Amino acid sequence: MTSPASAQSVTDASAYDLIVLPGDGIGKEVTAEAVRVLEWFAARRGINVNLRHEQFGAEAYHATGHFIKEEVFADLLKVDAVLFGAFGGTLEANPIPADIRRKFGLLRMRQAMGLFANVRPVKALNTLSKVSPLQPHVSADVDLVVIRELIGGIYFGEPRGITQLESGERRGVNTQVYTTHEIVRIADFAFALAATRRGHVTSVDKSNVMESSVLWREEVKKRHARYPDIALDHLYVDACAAELITRPRKFDVILTDNLFGDILSDAASAITGSLGMLPSASFGAELRPGVRRAFYEPVHGSAPDIAGKGVANPCGAILSLALALEGTFKRPEDARLLEHAVDIALQRARTRDLADPSLPVVSTRGFADEVIKALDEADGAIG
Ligand code: NAD
Ligand code: IPM
Ligand code: MN
Repeated sequence: MTSPASAQSVTDASAYDLIVLPGDGIGKEVTAEAVRVLEWFAARRGINVNLRHEQFGAEAYHATGHFIKEEVFADLLKVDAVLFGAFGGTLEANPIPADIRRKFGLLRMRQAMGLFANVRPVKALNTLSKVSPLQPHVSADVDLVVIRELIGGIYFGEPRGITQLESGERRGVNTQVYTTHEIVRIADFAFALAATRRGHVTSVDKSNVMESSVLWREEVKKRHARYPDIALDHLYVDACAAELITRPRKFDVILTDNLFGDILSDAASAITGSLGMLPSASFGAELRPGVRRAFYEPVHGSAPDIAGKGVANPCGAILSLALALEGTFKRPEDARLLEHAVDIALQRARTRDLADPSLPVVSTRGFADEVIKALDEADGAIG
């Protein structure tokens, strides 16, 4: 693997090419730790990776006038995967015009890379049962995944904008829109994933009110005919929000649209104990049979309230690497090894969002040290 300092040249043809975009705020802090963990896998488990570190985000915009260099943007389509931190953070203090954010920010990146499927696993660890706001008998054994449609819906629909009315009022508009192929594509993804899990998809919509959701439900039902082994049910999004808190164990795969998926996944993160725990993977077209274009990032944002303090929980970023071990490097046993190491580390130390009076509170870096120590121990045990 090339070192971060010399990472600009991508040379080894047999290696995986990754672009690392730490982004803004705590994105930089947690991505640095995920990269250290990746370096461990490169050194100890023989994964051959070329890492190219580049700037992206609001901080880059304020410093250079661009979110990302155009040549780097073009190269996002050429690599095996992107490791991403977070976007945003200084937006309120240093506003960036909404149209510039939309044209050049994270959403443009997702759309240009065709990342239609956002996978957000939510796993409640026994280790964290004391810090979950839910009672242990409710949160125990929760293991669900939110499949969020990522490049359609109200995030991208036209018309949109704010207009000045003659009356002196202003009018803000966004459009929730889905077409058949967008629904079918994400439904296929969710059904296929469910086949590798407990075989149960819950499709979430607001079809008691919105036509786009009526279409969503009809198309998901039709497509389900091709998956006789998968159980399908439907929930309105408001009811789903309640059940995530009262009966989260009932969920296996939640299939939903862009906006509902954004909201439900942050809500579901609370089951685990912290938003900082949640990883994600976003997938686009197949690059090779069985391997999709991929973008790995924690679910959380740039967290301006804690940025720069070294206190952010790096688990979301590190567990996103576990998703990369599975999705891009096709090494499920290494993904399990990393998940296990994170669990062991959580039994020994915590970042402050997960503080437990009986355990030491450590920094972002300190927690990653614990993960790497647990990896060393497990590797020693294997070797
Ligand atoms: P946020 O996810 O950044 O933070 C929400 C709360 O969770 C904050 O109190 C924060 O301190 C806490 N938190 C988040 N991650 C944590 C971690 N790893 N460890 C400990 N605590 C953590 O959401 P926000 O504050 O609503 O948004 C801040 C900025 O981030 C905004 O500009 C928003 O648009 C952006 N954002 C970006 C992404 C992304 O890049 N994918 C995701 C969400 C929000
Ligand atoms: C996320 C974030 C983004 C989203 C923002 C930063 C555009 O909240 O990845 O969940 O809404 O998709
Ligand atoms: Mn979000």
